[in-house]
Amino acid sequence: MDRRDFITNTAVVAAGLAFIPGLAFADNEKVRLGYIGVGQRGRNHIASGLLRNDIEIVAICDIQESSLQFTRELFQKAGKKLPVEYTGSLDSYKGLLDRKDIDGVIIATPWNFHKEHAIGAMRAGKYAGCEVVAGITLQDHWDILKVYEETRVPYMTLENVCYRRDVMAMLNMVRQNIFGELLHAEGGYQHDLRGVLFNDGKTPNGIGAEFGPQTVGEAQWRTQFNIDRNADIYPTHGAGPVMNFLNINKGNRFTNLVSFSSKARGLSAYVTKIDPGNKNANIHYKNGDLITTMLNCANGETVTLTHDTHLPRPYDLAFRVQGTKGLWMEVAKGVYIEDVSIRERWDDQQVWIEKYEHPLWKRYANDASGAGHDGIDWFVFNAFTEAIRQKKQTPIDIYDSLTMSVITPLSEKSLVEGNTPQAFPDFTKGKWQSAKNTFALDDSGL
Ligand SMILES: NC(=O)c1ccc[n+]([C@@H]2O[C@H](COP(=O)([O-])OP(=O)(O)OC[C@H]3O[C@@H](n4cnc5c(N)ncnc54)[C@H](O)[C@@H]3O)[C@@H](O)[C@H]2O)c1
Repeated sequence: MDRRDFITNTAVVAAGLAFIPGLAFADNEKVRLGYIGVGQRGRNHIASGLLRNDIEIVAICDIQESSLQFTRELFQKAGKKLPVEYTGSLDSYKGLLDRKDIDGVIIATPWNFHKEHAIGAMRAGKYAGCEVVAGITLQDHWDILKVYEETRVPYMTLENVCYRRDVMAMLNMVRQNIFGELLHAEGGYQHDLRGVLFNDGKTPNGIGAEFGPQTVGEAQWRTQFNIDRNADIYPTHGAGPVMNFLNINKGNRFTNLVSFSSKARGLSAYVTKIDPGNKNANIHYKNGDLITTMLNCANGETVTLTHDTHLPRPYDLAFRVQGTKGLWMEVAKGVYIEDVSIRERWDDQQVWIEKYEHPLWKRYANDASGAGHDGIDWFVFNAFTEAIRQKKQTPIDIYDSLTMSVITPLSEKSLVEGNTPQAFPDFTKGKWQSAKNTFALDDSGL
């Protein structure tokens, strides 16, 4: 099939889980994957693929020998055939994308490469499964959309928190109207990342106060974003689930946003604590320690997102779903439903999670047990590869992907402009009004 036929055949497909006719790959029992970036996260997705006989990992690309070597070891341990490797330069990924025997590409490179790699994958007719976030600037997001509109090749942000067991149970409760009409939702990224942003330069977990290209793991590249940008630089873990609760882009949409930032003290204090006198304590880290973003929705709900990764704290993602009949608050580990819960007392959320277990979890909990992040990595990998196998739209589609990611540049602009509200772009170009939420409506994996 030539590119023109491919575009003609696929351009008719609207958003939603419509069957996508004529994707450029052959019918094959196995879904054939290529990977760009096999660092820590890419290798999580490799591990998911190696567990399954219906997935073939054909090729991988990375520019660091250590990442390739760790990946080879995973294949050897699993007793599987080694993938073809593409390495040597920033353009190496193009060789992988030129292959005709790959149906989908998993992209787990540093943030600044995601746009280029995802656009390349879509242009090559391969499903793009991209780690968070989609792009850096607002324009990046429009550029990615343009290529999607030209190619109609599905793009999915691999936002695993959308598949968390408690989050999916709460989504089930939302859909069964247990909370009543929703008014407000919250989420965030609240995770002490100081030990990720700095290490000893030798091992990703080696305690130290160094970062930059001479170190290892995410400290090589991620910390620089905390120096350069004051924004919610990791909005998707909170925004993805909240968007499902509120049907964003599917009958509802974010209309505007405003961000607030605390001062930045956490990273300098950490460096001083770990290595007194280290010059990295004197850096001006632009990224405020607490970034709070508020969003309005077209249907009248409000949303709060938090970014809090530089201070000592336990992990939680601050979820809250509140409606006319009651609410869930992750921090309270509780659900309260009027006339069901004891007055003014939280029920243990676990009781509700079990009662309203999502059909996907009921079906796949055993398969997912042992997979990364308490099983959710299995679900997000399964969703992406099932969409490929079934030649359907991905459950987190291009519009959702761009929406949850564009919060970063919008919050940055709001902060630069003194907490001014920013109009939220409508990537669906009006289609949100009639689109229906299709995320995880049953146990089909999509
Ligand atoms: N959803 C989650 O739970 C989760 C968890 C961790 C990381 N992530 C995301 O995954 C992505 C990767 O993070 P990570 O922790 O694996 O980082 P990492 O630094 O461990 O790995 C990145 C890999 O990409 C390679 N790379 C860099 N530039 C490249 C290029 N131009 N071409 C090919 N390879 C290139 C590096 O050599 C490295 O092996 C990021 O977007 C991160 O935010 C998501």
